[in-house]
Amino acid sequence: MRPPHHTETFIAGTWRPARTGTRFTVRDPGDGTEVGSCPDCDGADATAAIAAAYEARGPWAGLAARERAAVLMRWHAAILRDGPALAEVMTRESGKPLAESLAEVRYGASFLQWCAEEAPRALGAVIPAEQADRRLLVVQQPVGVVAAITPWNFPLSMVTRKVAPALAAGCTVVLKPSELTPLTALALVRSAEGCGLPPGVLNVVPTTDPAAVGAVLTGDPRVRMLSFTGSTAVGKRLMAQAAGTVKHVSLELGGNAPALVFDDADPVAAADAIVASRYRNTGQTCVCTNRVLVQNGVAEAFLHALSERVEALRMGHGLTPGVQVGPLIDHRAVAKVMRLLEDAVARGARPIVGGPGSVRDGRFVAPTVLVGVTPEMACMQEEIFGPVLPVMRFAREDEAVAVANATTQGLAAYIFTRDLARSWRVSEALEAGMVGINTGLISTAAAPFGGVKESGLGREGGPQALAPFLEPKYIAVAGLR
Ligand code: SIN
Repeated sequence: MRPPHHTETFIAGTWRPARTGTRFTVRDPGDGTEVGSCPDCDGADATAAIAAAYEARGPWAGLAARERAAVLMRWHAAILRDGPALAEVMTRESGKPLAESLAEVRYGASFLQWCAEEAPRALGAVIPAEQADRRLLVVQQPVGVVAAITPWNFPLSMVTRKVAPALAAGCTVVLKPSELTPLTALALVRSAEGCGLPPGVLNVVPTTDPAAVGAVLTGDPRVRMLSFTGSTAVGKRLMAQAAGTVKHVSLELGGNAPALVFDDADPVAAADAIVASRYRNTGQTCVCTNRVLVQNGVAEAFLHALSERVEALRMGHGLTPGVQVGPLIDHRAVAKVMRLLEDAVARGARPIVGGPGSVRDGRFVAPTVLVGVTPEMACMQEEIFGPVLPVMRFAREDEAVAVANATTQGLAAYIFTRDLARSWRVSEALEAGMVGINTGLISTAAAPFGGVKESGLGREGGPQALAPFLEPKYIAVAGLR
């Protein structure tokens, strides 16, 4: 497969232009060059996509679960077949280093496999009735049309993490990918050609006007579920809009993950894991370690190992072999990271690697480690979404847990310790939807992904992956004597 860089969009089973004929250009954040272009959909295109998904929902839901699963498994194989081309377009439009894009292709494909395997297990129930002549049944039915709104930082896997369980459950989908990375989503849908997806089951509406298209997707009563991954601010707005038609809502929002390194941890292993977590996707991952809390006894050894590793990271264009840290997605992202860095330094933090002067070509921020950080600094309160790691020392476990929980977010948290009792005690005390113990990488299709507090609602993946896309229907059967 050659990535279709100048492509139409996919609505009702056909590749077509936007209703108005307008298109938009996608640029490479690494060098500003044009990657390609695609249709710029408006509210009317979104309404057409909803109509197609609405019409397709009955026949798709009516297939046997194993028939839907077979379609997903064919798509899974096609994604792996097209992996190098998908990874290349992903790196060009998101800036992600190529090795990470290839890993994301495999991660993204795994949601199709996992959900295909779960599809035949959407079990109902038979409940013992109070009356002898009755049988009480529960069957699981698809919620209907799902609107999926996906982010630029994982342009492929966040699509499959929503679309795979929706399709497996028998729902149909209207997908609005980020305007920064629509070409990966469209190339992913191109991979599905020939896999047996009936027209209208999956529709895509790329747009440079996400507010207008989002208003249609959240306002149309035919859409019964909204699944969104992105910022907390936008998630709150969409949730309010979806309330008007009482849709199911699944939200994967921002994080502010702490990593707690205790005196009994292996400092070198902790540094390795935290570098993998913080600098994954150049720090632009919701579950990235956003701040480190290190206990005094291990701080020197940990900081030594950490700074050696961060200094060795190779920064450059994502397609350059060996590059581990790419550009930030756009100038706004660079400005935000610089604001947080400058705030920290002005309040007394000290860079031991990188620092505020380390922007290159206006798009690249050199990997940075800050020490002397305190909880009030903006970099400890806000999601940095860049390659900057603030490190704060602590003395007592309860103090570290209190600082870790002093945030409105609660997506991921990490603990480094060799004390079994502490690993349980602290992971239960942390206000987070996901905890990694002695690891900085926790994402997998096999486990439930999601947060508490303002990090979101609901979980994606894991044994319950299909549940949000299913409605239990209770059927009472009487007169059986
Ligand atoms: C995200 O950053 O939204 C998702 C990252 C992941 O799945 O690991």
